[in-house]
Amino acid sequence: MRRTPRPLVAGNWKMHGLKSSLKQVRTIAASLAKTAPACDVMICPPATLLRPMKDVAKASKLKLGGQDCHASSQGAHTGDVSAEMLKDAGAAAVIVGHSERREDHREMNVDVRAKAAAAHRAGLMAIICVGETLKQRKAGAALRVVGHQLKGSLPSTATDKNTVIAYEPVWAIGTGLTPTVDDVAEVHTYIRKRLQALLLDGSPERVRLLYGGSVKPANAAELLVTKNVDGALVGGASLDAKDFLPIVRACR
Ligand code: PGA
Repeated sequence: MRRTPRPLVAGNWKMHGLKSSLKQVRTIAASLAKTAPACDVMICPPATLLRPMKDVAKASKLKLGGQDCHASSQGAHTGDVSAEMLKDAGAAAVIVGHSERREDHREMNVDVRAKAAAAHRAGLMAIICVGETLKQRKAGAALRVVGHQLKGSLPSTATDKNTVIAYEPVWAIGTGLTPTVDDVAEVHTYIRKRLQALLLDGSPERVRLLYGGSVKPANAAELLVTKNVDGALVGGASLDAKDFLPIVRACR
């Protein structure tokens, strides 16, 4: 049975990857060309690798994304990259509001919302990240925090086609820890419900909700069949084709 919405498994390479890493993408692209996956597959490399990765991936259905963008299309912003530039380099999407950006660069919901709107302006899909810290979860505030981030980060331009929400508990990122599937289902179901009021255009049922945080080949299958989970955002395990491909194949 075909799932609706079609799941997405996206790899977030973070600040990893040189030209030599393109061999991983060659392997992934070859596998996808041989056997069609049951989900959309994306890699979000550092901006420096978008163009060469596009060349390697072009014969396959592998999609590419950026990891952040500036809210403006151009200007005097040394070191920043615009959504239009990512698109020009071959991206179809961009991650915004990742907890590492929120933490390292003090990005607030209002910044994330402007970046998501910039993605839409450029014709990119925005992958908007939300998630609570361990302290917040222990205080019983996970849903409240996620709801607040969602409301503050979702621009009015969001539709079910141009927006993906990634729930990434901060304490699960890069730690090997994951919430229980019941906890994931609770948050995802809550996000879906909140979207009914927040999404101004399109169907909340069709917005893809990804889980992210220590997704590995060993836990991908159970996470990917969890209620209201429409795919995964994968960090560390996306860097090596031998880890990433089993996660993609766990999607049915
Ligand atoms: P991880 O990272 O899979 O290495 O935990 C996920 C993410 O930050 O997107």
